[in-house]
Amino acid sequence: MAKLIGLKKVKTAIFISGTGSNLESLIKFSLSKNSPIKINLIVSNNSKAKGLELAKIFKIKKKIYNFKNKSVSEKFILKDLKNNEIRLICLAGFMKILSKDFIKRFKGKILNIHPSLLPKYRGLDTHARVINNKEKYSGCTVHYVNSKLDAGRIILQKKVRVSKRDNAESLKIKILKQEHKLYPKAVIKILTNL
Ligand code: GAR
Repeated sequence: MAKLIGLKKVKTAIFISGTGSNLESLIKFSLSKNSPIKINLIVSNNSKAKGLELAKIFKIKKKIYNFKNKSVSEKFILKDLKNNEIRLICLAGFMKILSKDFIKRFKGKILNIHPSLLPKYRGLDTHARVINNKEKYSGCTVHYVNSKLDAGRIILQKKVRVSKRDNAESLKIKILKQEHKLYPKAVIKILTNL
């Protein structure tokens, strides 16, 4: 990632499927003076994603592809990424699995945030599984994306205490708060080689 360092901000695309609270925190971070990224594109597989409203508010280009045919959608996305000179992709609640080929084309330049302490609790329904297993801790992880689900090299993690009163929803909220701080920190870490 050292190559990405330069005087200009790194043009970044954020991929979302839903609420977009991580998108919002990344946009706000990107607008701060010391941010190494500029968000030039929002991509979604879901035209109803609430996070897409942020595109209008912050005047960021958005593109929606339904992924009914993954390879066709990915082909268009790659074109969009090229046209917008995107050099970094942040998956932020993007619930589609990108193909090996797509990941290869953006090797080492796709990040993801996952709401668990990976390698524990890969996949879906993370919080419910953590509560069912009576874990004392959970958390969130920012990692590089490789061809295996939630398995790429870890960049940063934040541990969160699970209280006896927590349920899946309260834990989700607690962890999301930490996600909003962790993702910008991870972006800084990889782009400044700390
Ligand atoms: C976040 O908790 C994120 O970690 C999770 O989806 C949520 C999206 O929230 N991602 C995954 O589970 C990916 N496997 P947001 O749309 O408010 O950012």
